[in-house]
Amino acid sequence: MLSEKESKTVAVVNCSQLVTLGGAARPRVGPEMRELGIIADGGLIVRDGRIEQVGSSTQIKAGINADTEVVDAGGRVVLPGFVDAHTHPVFAGTRAGEFEERSAGATYQEISARGGGIQSTVNQTRAASLDELVSAGRRYAAWFLRGGTTTVEAKSGYGLSLEDELKILRAIKKLDEETPLRYVPTFLGAHTVPKEYAARRDQYIALIVDEMLPQVAREKLAEFADVFCEQNVFTTDESWKILSAARCHGLGLRLHADQLSLSGGAKLAAELGTVTADHLEHTDADGIAALKSAGVQPVLLPGSVYALGSSRYPAAREMIDAGLAVVLATDFNPGSSPTPSLTTILSLASTHMKMTPAESITASTINAAYSLNRGAELGSLEPGKIADIVIHDCDDYRELAYFFGIEHPWKVYAAGELVFDRFPSK
Ligand code: NIG
Ligand code: FE
Repeated sequence: MLSEKESKTVAVVNCSQLVTLGGAARPRVGPEMRELGIIADGGLIVRDGRIEQVGSSTQIKAGINADTEVVDAGGRVVLPGFVDAHTHPVFAGTRAGEFEERSAGATYQEISARGGGIQSTVNQTRAASLDELVSAGRRYAAWFLRGGTTTVEAKSGYGLSLEDELKILRAIKKLDEETPLRYVPTFLGAHTVPKEYAARRDQYIALIVDEMLPQVAREKLAEFADVFCEQNVFTTDESWKILSAARCHGLGLRLHADQLSLSGGAKLAAELGTVTADHLEHTDADGIAALKSAGVQPVLLPGSVYALGSSRYPAAREMIDAGLAVVLATDFNPGSSPTPSLTTILSLASTHMKMTPAESITASTINAAYSLNRGAELGSLEPGKIADIVIHDCDDYRELAYFFGIEHPWKVYAAGELVFDRFPSK
């Protein structure tokens, strides 16, 4: 413990808008998603990595003493760090070749049916060592941070053998320890049936249930489990079996649902009471109603719709109007969504899903934090929370969704430490 004298205090002042996201201690729904708790000409004080006080710049300046490090935001916008609640950030290689093929007309499903797609990243990831995965992951961690993201949910799913899934989860653990980015690990052994099990898929499911899940739980390598429920991937019955087993091991549940077809994913998520149902591009009104009655949070991923060249975006407006606590995430992965940029996602959400910039910010901060069981610690700028703070180089929060294709952050702090500085002083 640091004594009071040694404790480190930072004050951020002169924020044109301090976007606190302060409010009820639960995910925000309906019109609440537009309430950002903005303090005009605001500021905040951080002590030992936690937010101690938020208020007007004048109030904050009054509390500054000789030991306080003062950061002048210079009239910029300040937000909590983005929480990216759906990413696949540990993999080897890229799929730039498949990207080129898709640009010439091939579809994602065609490429996957002939052994490319997820399987192609699995082949490359199996051939990589733990250290190689960590070093690739470091590069992506830097991308997330400089884009203003300070927490990511991180899925395994490119190993698909006991040993290789453990290798990915251990890489995630190392990245969490070594980089300033915070990782929340998810076991996705059910990402696809690997090629060596194609003719005996039941045995692969048995491997997940009998060997992978118990070992992952024993080593505490994941907080959540996820399944890609889709035609030609895992059926609803198979998904039910895997997620029920995961629940018995104490893991929270997430589900890739209705991404490429209406395959019963949203309804299954509701039946199981998963924490989230992700994608939902093809979910119908019945599916939305089922998610609502079960209290499942939708995680919408417009980056994958865009990057697959589709125009079928999820029905965000209907979901918000139905009272669902919508989350937006990047789905960062080497196949369907190669972007770590949440502000690009905000832009897509406004242009293609008719979400306002305020709704999108709620969806990528406080609602995302609750979907990861981190709502009490992250996702808003309120006293007591971890000081993950981003000073964006604009003076109106709506510019985050409006100017696209640029990196907005000017300074990024994780737990009160400066982890990205656009213009370092030396
Ligand atoms: O969320 N849908 C399944 N998984 C990823 C794609 C992964 C890949 O293509 O490598 C997704 O879109
Ligand atoms: Fe995904």
